[in-house]
Amino acid sequence: MAKVESPRSSAQRALSFYIHIPYCAKRCGYCDFNTYTPQELSTSDLGLITRPYVDSALKEIELAKSEVGDAIVPTLFFGGGTPSLMPSSEIARLINGVKGLFEFDANIEVTLEANPDTLTLAYLDEIRAAGVNRLSIGMQSAVKHVLVALDRTHNPENVARACKLAREAGFEHLSVDLIYGTPGETAQDWRESFESALALPIDHISAYALIVESGTKLAARVKRGELVMPNDDETAEKYLDFDASAESAGFSWYELSNWAKPGGECRHNIAYWDGSYWLGIGPGAHSYLNGRRWWNVKHPVTYQSALSEGKSPIADSEILSDENLRAEFLMLQIRMKFGIELNKLELKQQAQAKNFRDSGHIDSSEWARGRLALTPSGRLIADRIVRELMV
Ligand SMILES: C[S@@+](CC[C@H](N)C(=O)[O-])C[C@H]1O[C@@H](n2cnc3c(N)ncnc32)[C@H](O)[C@@H]1O
Ligand code: SF4
Repeated sequence: MAKVESPRSSAQRALSFYIHIPYCAKRCGYCDFNTYTPQELSTSDLGLITRPYVDSALKEIELAKSEVGDAIVPTLFFGGGTPSLMPSSEIARLINGVKGLFEFDANIEVTLEANPDTLTLAYLDEIRAAGVNRLSIGMQSAVKHVLVALDRTHNPENVARACKLAREAGFEHLSVDLIYGTPGETAQDWRESFESALALPIDHISAYALIVESGTKLAARVKRGELVMPNDDETAEKYLDFDASAESAGFSWYELSNWAKPGGECRHNIAYWDGSYWLGIGPGAHSYLNGRRWWNVKHPVTYQSALSEGKSPIADSEILSDENLRAEFLMLQIRMKFGIELNKLELKQQAQAKNFRDSGHIDSSEWARGRLALTPSGRLIADRIVRELMV
């Protein structure tokens, strides 16, 4: 790992951690995340490979400490893959590994992504005792034929069961992920899914429009004409329908694809969007610190062999120029409810943004207060607005 400047001021000393768990029992047809099934890793039992994997991740955390120095950790996020496949003792080893080397903020948020099928009360009690205080459950849909089109294996009834057990285990912060715009999903199917999500004892929902990622089973089925993707207008209607119902149920949008009850916002994701520093541990994980971004080798086997030889698992890095940083700031901040202070934009960008205010995509009352904030119709074309402001 190349030497990086130690964080100095108290604001700079905040450092979030992302720990990647690159395993799934089965790959969902739409997903191109950096994750591997037991078959792809030539093992019949993920349990056999989790302990050596955690040993490697702990080595990477030690390496990071020697480069980064002291820092306070406000958030830690176990993402995947399917982190809930990890035995609770291994989750505890990872949390203790970070805690032994870095100071935890008194109010630290520790999230774990979970598959609703595998959660038991005993497991939830154990990870809660290990320090996990927020769960993000992959729900995707409540409608069986939609789950089948997505090639998801979980039983939709397990989502409510998992949330109930998580509450019993003392988790105050619960989130579910939803996907809309799946081939064959009607407006009524989507409504049924999000209404059952809004009725759960949760304080956060992420809702993503289905992306057809090249190389996935979904992409092949769409290419063969076996599945037909809905048109953009239908998908936009679903976004607006969900947004209005979420707001009425007490969930406010705070980022394009994220809604929360007051206090339920995911502080880890906010750290990505507001340009805070983070360290990504695990194969393919990205890190960002002091204007430098770097990322690890992608495959778990290559990752583990680098670390077992005492080498850095970094694949490559880049220094972000001022122009890169400005573009990134614009791209990320525009996605947030708070938006961007107009005085942070160049005059040329302000003039361009004014056209979007006049067309109703940027909120006029916020504009009068000196901020660029998207209206619901503006959120639907956020990428286009960014592109035009960057010209
Ligand atoms: C790493 S997964 C979450 C945890 C767990 N692996 C699961 O799926 O239940 C993160 C989320 O990304 C979303 N996602 C993955 N691939 C997607 C795609 N092609 N289009 C839209 N959303 C996607 C899903 O909602 C998924 O829950
Ligand atoms: S969506 Fe989640 S469970 Fe499905 S393959 Fe991707 S990471 Fe694994």
